[in-house]
Amino acid sequence: MPNLAIIGGQWGDEGKGKVVDLLAPRFDIVARFQGGPNAGHTVVFDGQTFALHHVPSGIFHDGVLSVIGNGLLVDPERLIREIDELTSRGVPVAERLRISLAAHVILPLHRELDEAIEARWGTGAIGTTKRGIGPAAGAKAQRFGVRVADLGRPDGIRSAISRLLASGFDGWMRELGVAPPDPDEVAGQAASWWSSLAPMCAGTTALMHDALDDGRSILFEGAQGTLLDLEQGTYPFVTSSNTTTAGIAVGLGVPPRAVSTSIGVFKAYVTRVGGGPFPTEIEGAEGERLREAGSEYGTTTGRPRRCGWFDAVAARHAVRLNGLDGLAVTKFDILTGLDLVRICVAYELDGRRLDRVPEAARDYDRLVPVYEDLPGWSEPIGDARSVHELPAAARRVLDRIAVLCGCPVALVSVGPDRRASLFPEGVLKIGAIPDARPGSAP
Ligand code: GDP
Ligand code: IMO
Ligand code: MG
Repeated sequence: MPNLAIIGGQWGDEGKGKVVDLLAPRFDIVARFQGGPNAGHTVVFDGQTFALHHVPSGIFHDGVLSVIGNGLLVDPERLIREIDELTSRGVPVAERLRISLAAHVILPLHRELDEAIEARWGTGAIGTTKRGIGPAAGAKAQRFGVRVADLGRPDGIRSAISRLLASGFDGWMRELGVAPPDPDEVAGQAASWWSSLAPMCAGTTALMHDALDDGRSILFEGAQGTLLDLEQGTYPFVTSSNTTTAGIAVGLGVPPRAVSTSIGVFKAYVTRVGGGPFPTEIEGAEGERLREAGSEYGTTTGRPRRCGWFDAVAARHAVRLNGLDGLAVTKFDILTGLDLVRICVAYELDGRRLDRVPEAARDYDRLVPVYEDLPGWSEPIGDARSVHELPAAARRVLDRIAVLCGCPVALVSVGPDRRASLFPEGVLKIGAIPDARPGSAP
């Protein structure tokens, strides 16, 4: 099995957790390469629902190693809570998880700064998850960061915090109403985190290289989505990492050629949580209908997600940016009952037709979507087990999505459970996945 990347194609929450969990039994390793506790990946099987934040979505499968790469921002407090909760529900996390010693750490001060900055920006706020992502990524880039390996070295923690304070951060923090940290107190917290996490910490770059040398198969799990990418997304309304396939190499220390196949996960409509442009957003009752039908409330923050129509222009952009080989179309069941299914096929900007997303983020707010309307269907499709069982109108929507995106549909998801997954024939060789591998459920 070639190494496979599963990437969010939109603004996050596309159903990556479901897709990764579904395909994980075919791989030796599932590795996360970016993001952190801002992510919320839902996995549903055997009537149980799990929400994962740092831990890769392969964790439920025996014999699959889960790796948190150097590219993640790890919040030790939250990670320990996440591991404890999974363990208490019967998932043997300690055996299956490895955490990079080189990953940067989110400290309480980063969370407090994230909240304080958002509050200052008021209506212009990004609408972050307030998990400390921006400040911790900033500290990493400014070389004040604390890494997982430092947690076991009180002197390393003290000197990192002292460097931060000596650079004038204490004044800035006070101005924002955040108490500057006491280096000794942080060193004490770090020691307690280290005692919980140390048995799972490892040099994951070497681990990945050994896996590649031995021909072990790897599934790379993206977090957030392509349009939230720090470089290529709708800046500044983005997250602080590279969410595209390009992030895999730096976030795990593997060469780009380690990724042989990439699948982008796209909802059959679009959601966005937080601020920023959203050309196909549906205001009013119709948007509300999608939000309720799709239970579109954040996995991490519980915030209502903004809903809109499938945007094939943005999706085509994601196909190109990531070099996608296939699309996984999720939440297809949520479209049941609509008279018309709308797909955005182009934009108009100041009266000109655009077939690509604009380079300048400021132009996004003036984009007017051009829609193609397709007939909907009324039959529930959640029990379908092959694409042939779908109503003709539903198959037509899938065909149009593939043509407009210039990429075949490799997987269709018609419900949150693992089993509600259809694999169009002849597209990629991921094939039908058995319901569950013996011994794979916790
Ligand atoms: P992720 O962040 O990309 O992993 O996505 P989230 O877990 O944040 O959000 C996706 C939500 O949709 C979760 O509640 C999933 O259980 C659910 N879900 C995934 N695929 C489907 C599907 O095909 N149909 C329905 N109805 N729900 C789905
Ligand atoms: P998963 O992996 C949806 C959004 C936030 C905000 C912006 C910046 O579950 O798809 P941050 O806290 O990262 O500084 O917030 O990015 N955001 C997400 N939206 N799904 C996510 O993760 C997200 N992670 C961050 O809402 O708009
Ligand atoms: Mg999510």
